[in-house]
Order: sequence, then C-alpha cells, then structure tokens
Amino acid sequence: MEKIGIAIIGCGGITLQNHLPGLALCPQTRIVALCDSDPATLQRASQQCGVAACYTDYTEVLKRDDLNAVVIATPNVLHAPIALAAIKAGKHVLCEKPLAMNSGEALEMYRAAETAGVRHMTAFTYRFVPAFRYMAHLVKSGAIGQPYHLRVQRFQDWGQRSLGWRQVARMAGSGELGDMLSHRLDYAHLLVGQMRSLVGDLHRFHDARGGQASDLEDWTAIIARFANAATGVFESSKLVTGRGESARSHDYCEINGSEATIVYQMSATPELHMGRPGSGNLETVPVPREFLTWPGSPRDPSQGDPLFNFRYDQNFEFVDAIVKQRPCVPSFLDGARVQEVMDTAIQSARERRWLDVRYAVPWK
Ligand SMILES: NC(=O)c1ccc[n+]([C@@H]2O[C@H](COP(=O)([O-])OP(=O)(O)OC[C@H]3O[C@@H](n4cnc5c(N)ncnc54)[C@H](O)[C@@H]3O)[C@@H](O)[C@H]2O)c1
Repeated sequence: MEKIGIAIIGCGGITLQNHLPGLALCPQTRIVALCDSDPATLQRASQQCGVAACYTDYTEVLKRDDLNAVVIATPNVLHAPIALAAIKAGKHVLCEKPLAMNSGEALEMYRAAETAGVRHMTAFTYRFVPAFRYMAHLVKSGAIGQPYHLRVQRFQDWGQRSLGWRQVARMAGSGELGDMLSHRLDYAHLLVGQMRSLVGDLHRFHDARGGQASDLEDWTAIIARFANAATGVFESSKLVTGRGESARSHDYCEINGSEATIVYQMSATPELHMGRPGSGNLETVPVPREFLTWPGSPRDPSQGDPLFNFRYDQNFEFVDAIVKQRPCVPSFLDGARVQEVMDTAIQSARERRWLDVRYAVPWK
C-alpha cells in the first residue's frame, strides 16, 4: 500500500515533542513536508526528522500531489484558516486544541470536513492517558452508578513568566480556558455527557508576562450542571505557586457516583483510586495491560517516559482512521462542543450570570 503523505504545519514545541515522534511510530505514513513561518524553527524540525521539503507558506504545501493529510500545530488563530484550506484541498486534518478561536469557527471546520468526507481529529491528547482511558471505560460500563459530581483541577506555577502567543487574545482566543481547561472540558463530555448550564469566571492577575503585555486570563473556573443532573466543578490556573509547570504538576479528575468514586491523577504510575459506598478510604487500582496503549497501537508501553509516550497514540489514531476510513476519536465535533462550552463560560463571566449551554449539533 502507498504510504500516507503527511505535512506538519507549525513545527514548534508540540510538533517536536508529540507529532514527530508519534508519526515516526506509524509505518503507514511518510512526512512529505514541514511548514513553519519561522525559518530557524523549520530547520530544527527538519534536522530532528530528516525531512528536507520545508515551506514557510502553508498554501504552497497544500499544492503537493503526494499530500494526503496535515497536522496543524500553529497558534490557535491559524487553526481555522489552515484547516479550511486543507479540507478544501481534500486533505485529512489533525488539528491541535483548542480547535478554533470560537465555536462559530469550530463548527464551520466540522461541517466543512464532514461535507468533504475527510477525516478530522482534535488533539485532545489527554484522552490517550492509560489511566484516564480506564476511568472512562469504568464510567461507561456503569461502575460508578448514577453520576453525582465531576471535579477537575489543573494547577501549574508559571509566575509571571512569558507564555508567548498564549498570552495574546488575538492569537489564542482565550487564556487558561483554552490552553489547559479545554482538555478537561472534553473529559467532562466523555465521562458525563452534555452540559445543561454553567457559570464561569476568568481572571487575569498579571497584565504583563516576560515584559510583554498579556490580555488573557491566567485563572478560570466553571461550575456546571449536566443534562443528567450531575454537577461539575472545574478550576485551572497558571498561578498555583510551588506546583511546578511540567506534566508532573497537579492534573486531577475525580468522579463520584452512587456506586463508586474514581480518582484519576496524571502520574508516571498507571493507576486509579477507587472508593466504594461506606469504605471510608480509596483503594489503588492498577490499570490493566490492555489499557496501556490505544487499541491497535504498535507502541511498546514500557518504552519512554510514561508521562509523554501515551501522546504518540494520538498520531496512531489519526493514521488508523485514515487507513480504515472510519471517524477519528476525538473528532472536530468533540472540539466544537468544547468550544461551545468555552464560549458560554466567557459570556457567563462577562455577564456575571448562569447561562444555558446550547450545542448546535444534537447529542445522540
Ligand atoms: N494537545 C496538547 O497537549 C498540546 C500541548 C501544547 C500545545 N498544544 C497546541 O498546539 C498548538 C501549538 O502550540 P506550541 O506549544 O507548539 O506553540 P509554539 O509557539 O511552540 O509553535 C507554534 C509554531 O507555529 C508557527 N507558526 C506561526 N504562524 C505560522 C504560519 N502562518 N504558518 C506556519 N507556522 C506558523 C510558529 O513559528 C511556531 O513555530 C497550539 O494550538 C496549542 O494550544 C497542544
């Protein structure tokens, strides 16, 4: 079979850390081109993966005959224009999160991809964490009974250091909400389902970071009611002093139901903590072997840092969906639904009141 030709558009941090090593584990693919507006970044990526075809203009990349799919890993403002151009050219698209600048853009991307019949995927990478996958499996198979509460926290300590384009509204759309909480809003949809209403808040403590103006929030919180009556409490911050900033910093998700509590915490050890009615403490539950990699992934889970290696399964999922001509998980629809929640939270914070969450595409 001919290899799937992939181009990476945006060759900064996440491409070097996730997409290049992830695609290197997919023998059905060939990276045919790299694109970045910054020549030095382009050169670094080219050296890392040995791909010589380098472009600074993505419209030129899309003209290549050997191109089947693109990975978009640019600042958020460029996701929609690049994805729409790629879809128009008939290419499959894996796009970084948050999918777009707002839900209008995200829905346009979803509808365009569906109409064109191309594969579309949002890079909600934390769906691929083995312990989180096992948690989702247990919840879906009824282990917690009736869901009561979802509790999510992402705490990092960035102080006043620069966040680059992430601290600029016209580049990022939102701050902490899109950067860190978007992944966890996706958890909420997966674990509990659609939200009915929410109240959100955003706050910026620092108007400058690294000597440059910041016009976005460094803290956000949402309280939500789900359609099934469960409640959700979400908090995410870049200013949790002493917590560190890496993948090892506090990343917590707890669900409480009538039959069990399950606690997931990002950790190098694949395990959950579970509480049963009346037990009074949480027991440690190891993640079964079959959850250590994504179904079908050729990755050896014992290789590499467990805080990072699961991320490569995201690229496998994209490629596998192209090969098997089936929908990607998670799709642009998942990305658009998170964006609808984010838009509602921003509006709620602005208007200082509870709002209903209105999803444009009905839930099945
Ligand atoms: N899924 C995850 O866990 C995860 C983690 C980190 C970042 N991200 C997302 O990935 C995206 C990129 O983040 P990053 O941390 O790699 O940022 P980054 O700044 O390190 O890289 C972005 C790159 O895009 C390039 N770029 C800017 N304009 C361009 C254009 N017109 N054409 C081509 N390239 C252009 C920049 O030069 C830069 O090299 C963001 O959307 C971010 O939210 C996702």
